[in-house]
Amino acid sequence: MRHELVLVLDFGGQYNQLIARRVREAGVYCEMLPYTTSIEKINELNPVGVILTGGPASVTDAGAPFCDKEILELGVPVLGICYGMQLISAMNGGTVKKAKQREYGRVEIKLGDSRLFENCEKDTICWMSHTYHVDNAPKGFEITAKSANCPAGAFENKKKDLYGVQFHPEVNHTPEGTKILRNFLYGICGAKGDWKMSTYVDDMIKKIRDKVGDKQVLCAMSGGVDSSVAAVMIHKAVGKQLTNIFVDHGLLRKNEGDQVEEVFNKQFDMKLIRVNAQRQFLDKLAGVTDPETKRKIIGEEFIRVFEAEAKKLGKVDFLVQGTIYPDVIESGAGDAAVIKSHHNVGGLPDLVDFKEIIEPLRDLFKDEVRKAGLELGIPDHIVWRQPFPGPGLAIRIIGDITDEKLDILKDADWIFREEIKAAGLGRAINQYFAVLTGMRSVGVMGDERTYDYTLALRGVTTTDFMTADWARIPYDVLETISNRIVNEVKSINRIVYDITSKPPATIEWE
Ligand code: XMP
Repeated sequence: MRHELVLVLDFGGQYNQLIARRVREAGVYCEMLPYTTSIEKINELNPVGVILTGGPASVTDAGAPFCDKEILELGVPVLGICYGMQLISAMNGGTVKKAKQREYGRVEIKLGDSRLFENCEKDTICWMSHTYHVDNAPKGFEITAKSANCPAGAFENKKKDLYGVQFHPEVNHTPEGTKILRNFLYGICGAKGDWKMSTYVDDMIKKIRDKVGDKQVLCAMSGGVDSSVAAVMIHKAVGKQLTNIFVDHGLLRKNEGDQVEEVFNKQFDMKLIRVNAQRQFLDKLAGVTDPETKRKIIGEEFIRVFEAEAKKLGKVDFLVQGTIYPDVIESGAGDAAVIKSHHNVGGLPDLVDFKEIIEPLRDLFKDEVRKAGLELGIPDHIVWRQPFPGPGLAIRIIGDITDEKLDILKDADWIFREEIKAAGLGRAINQYFAVLTGMRSVGVMGDERTYDYTLALRGVTTTDFMTADWARIPYDVLETISNRIVNEVKSINRIVYDITSKPPATIEWE
């Protein structure tokens, strides 16, 4: 089934992915494409509405990004947000000027009479972030909102179905924002709202079944959210034609390898080959202290082990990749692209003998991947799993890695995570873990002097992991954690909590 679609044209603004997510949360499927997308391609997509996003440029700059003017004449409603509004103005003969003062943050706004603002509180707050604004609205346009510093907070040309808002309806700081977007989607574009995860999952399973036929599929399973959801979806489509290879490098958290086996092998009855390569990885890492060298060794060894196992299967037809929608946007958006290469196992496709890649998650945002996981019956502890780096605990042991240090870290990390969950903070803190520092210091236990390791605890709140703040874990929770770890884990006599944000620190210690 083909979903009705809203097209979001990307001009590089920082909230753009949020716009797309909000549209989907409202029940309407949308795709975000670069502003340079051709009118032919747009016609092919046949959108019910178009949203022009914000962006860092000003329409008055030489070389400012403009989209094809025909987009405004497609006969479907267009909503310009921030830069998008200024663009609509510029393309219709209006003027844009630099404000006396940059407007940033929560601003009081008066909304007027417009279908866009139906059922909204008229004296309200909105989030502004701009230096330029529409000065003279183009002919045929009516101003529909005003703030103290922005004479054209919103405008519209009802006849042409063109709408613009200078503020950001997509951010939480605009209390009427969700209503405004829904008014655009349902009231103005006439969307029906057919974007539901259950339908999507059923459709995707059917599509995969049609595509794969009686062929063989191979998946590198890590136990992380993306590979788990992708694998289960494919398993539902083609059952035992899917083989999952799970390389256990011994650097996973306590009991995690067994858990992956339990869930996918036993619960889901999937074909899962667990390769117990713990010794092999630890031998290769012996004596290595440099973080990047550790990463390189683990990455290369992973490929070697995976390849050797895959070869035993002979030729496969499809290889699964856990690409998600933000990766697709980032790789297509040109300048704004921030590719986190270390987040994927590089090179895998070249080394495995296969015909085609299959990417069941490429239309989904991360929160939608989780929703799909729940639809598929994947247990909560996997669906809500925090991100875990490919090199695993190797980059959480500062300096060289030994079996003994790994055991200490696994036990301490286990207690930390157990207590955070018990305190009900598991989802509020986006990533939390223990780090075994290479430092030892003096302590006293009973009447004995000790000389043992210092353990660091790290907890961060973040939306994109590019910047992060340290989590304000309540003192009494920290106290329980500290007491339990020093009492229950051997060789730790001191515990510190990391109170640096990113930047200047990174989330991981190595
Ligand atoms: P940093 O430490 O760079 O971490 O602030 C940002 C996010 O990336 C994860 N991370 C990695 N993930 N391989 C991965 O797959 C890596 O080598 C790696 N290094 C960091 C980190 O856990 C955090 O979520």
